[in-house]
Amino acid sequence: MSALLEMLGCRHPIIQGPIAALNEPKFVAAVSEAGAFGMLALGFSNKEDAKRLVAGVRALTAKPFGANLMVMNQENPKILEVLAEAGVKTVTTSAGSPKALYPHIHALGMKGLHVLLSLNTAVKAVEAGADGVIVSGSESGGLRSLGSESSTMVLVPLVADAVKVPIVAAGGIADRRGYRAALALGAQGVQIGTRLIATEESPAPAIWKEAILKCGDGGTVLLNLGGMNMRVIQNPKLEKEMKDPAVTLSERYNLFNAPKGWLAGDTDLFPAGAGQVAALIRDIKPVRDVIEEFMA
Ligand SMILES: Cc1cc2nc3c(=O)[nH]c(=O)nc-3n(C[C@H](O)[C@H](O)[C@H](O)COP(=O)(O)O)c2cc1C
Repeated sequence: MSALLEMLGCRHPIIQGPIAALNEPKFVAAVSEAGAFGMLALGFSNKEDAKRLVAGVRALTAKPFGANLMVMNQENPKILEVLAEAGVKTVTTSAGSPKALYPHIHALGMKGLHVLLSLNTAVKAVEAGADGVIVSGSESGGLRSLGSESSTMVLVPLVADAVKVPIVAAGGIADRRGYRAALALGAQGVQIGTRLIATEESPAPAIWKEAILKCGDGGTVLLNLGGMNMRVIQNPKLEKEMKDPAVTLSERYNLFNAPKGWLAGDTDLFPAGAGQVAALIRDIKPVRDVIEEFMA
C-alpha cells in the first residue's frame, strides 16, 4: 500500500477537489462510498458550520473523508477539534504558509497535505511540516495566482525531484489516462474537481453541468479578480468584456458572488467555474462510475 493510501485510509488514491459552493454531505459521502476520499471545503467555515457538515457526512458513510482548511481562517484550531472528534484522520491545507497550522494538526494525531501551485512553495510546505503535497498545475479549476505558473505535466515531476513526501497531482485529470499519467510523473494519487462537478450526485445546477459538457478545447479563461485569478468557462458576454478597455474585470466580478452565481446558473453574476479539463468531459454520470473508470 502506498504511503498516500495509508494516510487517506481509503481504497483508491483519488481525492475529491473541495469546492465550497458544493459542500453537500450527500456529495462528499458519495465520493467516499465509491472508495475515493470525499472532501468538505471548510476554508471559510466556523466551528458550527464544520460540526453540521461533518455530522452530515458521518451520518451517511462510515468510510474515511477529509476537509480542506484555508490557513488564514482563525477558526482552524476549533474546526480541527471537530474533525478529530468525528474521526477524521487527514486534512488538506491551502492558501498561504501552513507553518502555524501543522503543530495543531499533528497534536491531534492527524496528517495533512498542503495544496500548492509552485516548486518553491512545495519545498517550504514540507519544511513547515506537511506530510504530503497536492501539486496543482495551471490548467486546474479554481483560484490561481496572478504569476506565471507551470502545468501539471511540468510541476509534478519538478516537485517529485525535490521532496520525499507523497505527492497528489491536481489539475487537468478527468479519466484514467490523466490518472495514469499523474502516477508516471511521480504522484501517488490525484485530486479531481471539474470531473466531479459533472456527476449525478453533484449539487451543481444542470446549467453549470451543461456548461462543462459544452466547453471545448480552449474554452476556459483566467478571470482576473484583482489579487488572484479564477478559471472560468468563457461566455460571449465575458469575451466582449475582456476585449473592452472600459471594463475592469476585477470590479465587474466579485469572488464572493461566485457561489451564488454558480448555484443559480447566473453567468452574468459570475461565469461558470471549471478547469481546462472540462473539454474532456462529455457525460454526466454517477460518482461511482467516474471512480471506477479511473481505476479500470
Ligand atoms: C469551480 C471550482 C471551484 C473550486 N473551489 C475550490 C474551493 O472552494 N476550495 C479549494 O480548496 N479548491 C477549490 N477548487 C479546486 C479543486 O478543489 C481542485 O483542486 C481542482 O478543481 C482540480 O483541478 P481540475 O478541476 O482540473 O480537476 C475549485 C475548483 C473549481 C473547478
